[in-house]
Amino acid sequence: MSKMMSALLSLLLLLGPAVPQETHAGSYRLSFLYTGVSRPTDSLPSFQATAYLNDQIFFHYDSESRKAIPLDPWSQMEGIEDWEKESELQQARESIFMETLQDIMDYHKDREGSHTFQGRFGCELRNNKSSGAFWKYAYDGQNFIEFNKEIPAWVPQDPAALITKQKWEAEDVYVQRAKAYLEEECPAMLRRYLQYGKTFLDQQDSPSMSITSHRTPGEDTIKCWAIDFYPRDIDLHWNQGGNTVETEVRGDILPSGNGTYLSWVSLALSPWRPRSTLFCHIMHSTLDQPLVGQ
Ligand SMILES: *[C@@H]1O[C@H](CO)[C@@H](O)[C@H](O)[C@H]1NC(C)=O
Ligand SMILES: *[C@@H]1O[C@H](CO)[C@@H](O)[C@H](O)[C@H]1NC(C)=O
Repeated sequence: MSKMMSALLSLLLLLGPAVPQETHAGSYRLSFLYTGVSRPTDSLPSFQATAYLNDQIFFHYDSESRKAIPLDPWSQMEGIEDWEKESELQQARESIFMETLQDIMDYHKDREGSHTFQGRFGCELRNNKSSGAFWKYAYDGQNFIEFNKEIPAWVPQDPAALITKQKWEAEDVYVQRAKAYLEEECPAMLRRYLQYGKTFLDQQDSPSMSITSHRTPGEDTIKCWAIDFYPRDIDLHWNQGGNTVETEVRGDILPSGNGTYLSWVSLALSPWRPRSTLFCHIMHSTLDQPLVGQ
């Protein structure tokens, strides 16, 4: 696995439910997820930024590479973004972000242990019209500060966030810029990206099934894989005699790296559960009826 992919997976595990939700049909979303940690490791750089188009990863940046690197299929779209400029922008954002994490740790006197700061922001278009925008931060999993574009102002949700608010509102123009970013720049960027990649976001890929056997001392298991599907929602399970097997073990739904997803479900074989009686069922929005295999 490439270093970037393992960094991405660690990010997904860390975030769980913070991963962008499904978008409604006919709507598109550009969103960014920033994560800073006080105690980086080999697989977890101190800062990571991931840009999404709907639920697909568009590009990834981290404090190790210091480069915004687009993923497939976006990397193949000549001209979709100036990646040199994007890298510089992310570098600048990294330093503000990490400075803020330091401020919060200083305020809370959190010098021990590992601390995490996360930011999510982005905008949505429906029928080519702005239909939502958000910009919020969390410290150690708790809401920290959020931008309200109607006031417009940063709304603190933690005592330490008052200091952040003061810094981010030190000049009136900062607040106006944040508002303009969410209401104008972000939708304009999204419109531009859609000119290049709308067909990829509208794609429908049916899953294919693959069944593998695994032998460990004392246990034989079979694993059913659903591969290369899009959109992300999927239902897969093992079936015996018309019933779902309760003891199955389910994997996460993970990006394959080219815009599609994969997942698996595995089962331990036993004398009363021989392989010949087990069928894997996959249901997906692209299928009229379940895919069944053995
Ligand atoms: C979408 O809206 C923008 C800005 O309002 C406009 O310039 C563009 O032509 C519109 N695109 C379509 C496909 O209607
Ligand atoms: C993604 O990659 C897999 C395997 O490498 C390939 O079978 C599939 O067609 C690809 N899908 C897209 C949308 O490129």
